[in-house]
Amino acid sequence: MTALELSAVRHGYGAGTGRVEVLHDVSLTVAPGELLALAGPSGSGKSTVCHLAAGIERPERGTATLDGAPTSDIADWARIAVVPQQHGLLAGLSVHDNVALPALRGRDDPAATFARLAEALDVAAFARRGVTETSLGEQQRVAVARALVLAPRLVVLDEPTGHQDDDHVTQVTGVLADAARAGSAVLVASHDQRIWEVAHRVVRLDEGRVRS
Ligand SMILES: Nc1ncnc2c1ncn2[C@@H]1O[C@H](COP(=O)(O)OP(=O)(O)OP(=O)(O)O)[C@@H](O)[C@H]1O
Ligand SMILES: [Mg+2]
Repeated sequence: MTALELSAVRHGYGAGTGRVEVLHDVSLTVAPGELLALAGPSGSGKSTVCHLAAGIERPERGTATLDGAPTSDIADWARIAVVPQQHGLLAGLSVHDNVALPALRGRDDPAATFARLAEALDVAAFARRGVTETSLGEQQRVAVARALVLAPRLVVLDEPTGHQDDDHVTQVTGVLADAARAGSAVLVASHDQRIWEVAHRVVRLDEGRVRS
């Protein structure tokens, strides 16, 4: 069974002489319960794959689907949640409210889930502070907590340990492994070997191609 499927994706930016071809025929799948790490040098196309997988962009050629539906048609945080490389938190809200925001429209009280994630990611101590009054590494962990709060079908994380020290990397890899164990499909773009170590599979991109 597959949750996320990218099939024969080609994608680039711009037109004419300014045209940049980024992805050349990229195919990959992530199954429910699978943690897939996407590795590759800077500029190889990892964030572009994340944007297409998360449905932030639509592939120029080929398809990006979750359970058969184009990811770009899905605007439901319980189906696709994302941690962008720049964390995309809402500046006017507290740490707690950023994390709890996806749960507000639902029936469930986010308190228990918030408490579990806040503890696991070491953000509980400053939960009531505005997110702009926290460090970049703290903000990154808040964005990870927000992505996991609804136990999404697919979670896409772009370099989620880029601002973390060793102990906090262990916390992030721990919650990602837990999310996969609970059934989410987890796609994580990362240079970080400690992410590769907990991944079920590592797919390497090289100049916009999956390296075999
Ligand atoms: N909006 C854009 N317009 C033009 N070129 C772009 C755009 N976004 C990305 N690119 C180019 O596409 C290529 C792949 O970028 P991408 O951000 O996917 O790489 P990456 O593997 O995530 O890199 P990093 O490890 O530095 O985050 C790069 O050469 C980049 O310059
Ligand atoms: Mg990137």
